[in-house]
Amino acid sequence: MSSGTANGSSMELGECIRNTGFHEDDETEDAVGGDEENRTSTVRISPGREEDTYSQIKPYAGMPKEVLLLYSVQARYRLPREILFWLTIVCTLALVALTVTVIVLSPRCLSWWQSSPVYQIYPRSFKDSDSDGIGDLKGILDKLDHFQYLNIKAIWISPFYKSPMKDFGYDVEDFRDIDPLFGSMQDFDDLLAAMHDKGLKLIMDFIPNHTSDTHQWFNLSSSGHAQYKDYYIWANCNTTHAPNNWVSVFGNSSWTYVEERQQCYYHQFLKEQPDLNFRNPHVRREMTEIVRFWLEKGVDGFRMDAVKHILEAKHLRDEPQVDPQQDPDTIDTEFELHHDYTTTQLGLHDILQDWRGEMDVYSREPGRYRFMVAESYDYEETDKTMMYYGTPYAKESDFPFNFYLMDLPTNLTGTGAQGLVNLWMANMPVGKWPNWVVGNHDKPRISSSVGQEYITVINMLLLTLPGTPTTYYGEEIGMVNINVTIDEIQDPFGKFNPVSNASRDPQRSPMQWSDGPNAGFSDANHTWLPLHPHHTTVNVEAQQKDSGSVLSQYRALSLLRQAQLPLHRGWMCYVWSDADVFAFLREIDGLDKAFLVVLNFGADSVINLSAITELPEQLTLHMSTKQENYGMPVIKSSISTARGEGLLLEYSTHMRFNPGHASQCFVSEKACYLGVLDILYKC
Ligand code: GLC
Ligand code: MG
Repeated sequence: MSSGTANGSSMELGECIRNTGFHEDDETEDAVGGDEENRTSTVRISPGREEDTYSQIKPYAGMPKEVLLLYSVQARYRLPREILFWLTIVCTLALVALTVTVIVLSPRCLSWWQSSPVYQIYPRSFKDSDSDGIGDLKGILDKLDHFQYLNIKAIWISPFYKSPMKDFGYDVEDFRDIDPLFGSMQDFDDLLAAMHDKGLKLIMDFIPNHTSDTHQWFNLSSSGHAQYKDYYIWANCNTTHAPNNWVSVFGNSSWTYVEERQQCYYHQFLKEQPDLNFRNPHVRREMTEIVRFWLEKGVDGFRMDAVKHILEAKHLRDEPQVDPQQDPDTIDTEFELHHDYTTTQLGLHDILQDWRGEMDVYSREPGRYRFMVAESYDYEETDKTMMYYGTPYAKESDFPFNFYLMDLPTNLTGTGAQGLVNLWMANMPVGKWPNWVVGNHDKPRISSSVGQEYITVINMLLLTLPGTPTTYYGEEIGMVNINVTIDEIQDPFGKFNPVSNASRDPQRSPMQWSDGPNAGFSDANHTWLPLHPHHTTVNVEAQQKDSGSVLSQYRALSLLRQAQLPLHRGWMCYVWSDADVFAFLREIDGLDKAFLVVLNFGADSVINLSAITELPEQLTLHMSTKQENYGMPVIKSSISTARGEGLLLEYSTHMRFNPGHASQCFVSEKACYLGVLDILYKC
């Protein structure tokens, strides 16, 4: 070793670090490697060159490996090193274990279709951008701020496919094209992109049961084209005798004769809406490809139209009459037959489950879950309805629409409302997610049928129940039906029987945006349906300025529903119902804050909830649908509500109601709140 051992005088660099200086020559290695003594000796520096040599020493730098190894085996280095090593291992394992535990113990996050209300747009009536008096896609684009204002993320748009508009778009001529009335494919792409930019999801209407009679497939089928002849349901008949007694939902026989084929085709709805033959594998494949086409474009979900009609019995036997004594020749409405052979046939759920499977493929990307809702009117046949939820082994729709609250007009009492809510809650498969509908383009507006004074309490019901509320455009401002004279009827269903009130026009009037011309809906001289005359006072612009308006209350509830854990994830427990009032509470285990919802569907009332020991004596009024009652003190022994008033009361308690009242309480997925960590866990 050049400088270390060669010199007589030496300099100790301290016990811990003996820096030999930096030497690149090979001798260093030889000396250290060859001489045992050198390995333990100190570095010696010639006194004459002391300054010189010292300046060459670079502490810590360039220590030869051998020197490092020499010291690294000493206990004082080894021990901390080993402690640190094992600490790192233990911490890593602990972190992995913690992550796994959190994942296992965390309840699933709510998906977008659960955390937001679903808003239905009837595109003809929402907003007209090109002044033809008919709403369109660009019009919807112009109004996206409305949804941000309302804290709504999920928008279902009724059909805008190319269509001769016999059933206003539910008769599709081309499933891969946009009707020029509504815009172009570019307009659609722009709308979808803008919606996604704003965090909004687009749900399309998918109409699998039938096409328009102007669809190319039907033309080819009618002419007996080899590939298409079985795309629809054809049966032998003649001009006077239908193949059987089946009737259309829109009235009269569901068979229409075609001269060219000398056969009848089957149509569950209008004769311009021939039913597709889903027993033909080519038809199934074609329709699946259409589903893929739109998923590929990025749509976030489908509302599956009229699904119970997708299959019919092959044997074509007559359906049993509701009244066996009735003269068969007089049967011309759906209510006169039991639909044993034309609805909910075996195989239907397989078809829907296949589409669900397609949608799942596109749902894998994080945040891109594709949602499916099934439309089926099975009235009180709850079992049939619940089938659309699928089974634990076969996924189907995320939920079938729950239409039971549409019966509120004939059940307008507290007990009636609870009964309708319970019809769903008591029959829904365990763990599934409920939803609530009070209106759509097919049914009269709820505020017309129950009376306008109940619209705010109904909105409060929808937004405080567990599950997804759906809102038909205009319900957020309390729109009501328009009057349509017989000559003005547009709806084919209404034209079939003009005096029967079957027309769906009254609930399809243009959206009321402002008190300006055509309520801000359109600049045209004439709108496709008349505006409701009350649009001068009932409109979005006016209601935004009024904190007590239907719109402001809707918005407040929508924000609250998202912000308050018990409202979107908690238990719902019935605590009261009578002729006037329906009351339930919302609570979540682990959180002392809870809500009591008191809804009046009758006349002015005072209820006494003293028997509910889990409630504190006094509650805080969070919101009343009657502005004059804001700030009213509320004690549980005397809770008063006026006709049509809804109260949202907040309270704090250590005692939960649900453990002692299992039969009165529902939750989709139980979760508990852990205050110290501010997290939810499965419990
Ligand atoms: C659904 C639609 C309705 C339409 C029918 C036929 O029930 O909601 O508007 O007329 O299907 O497609
Ligand atoms: Mg237009």
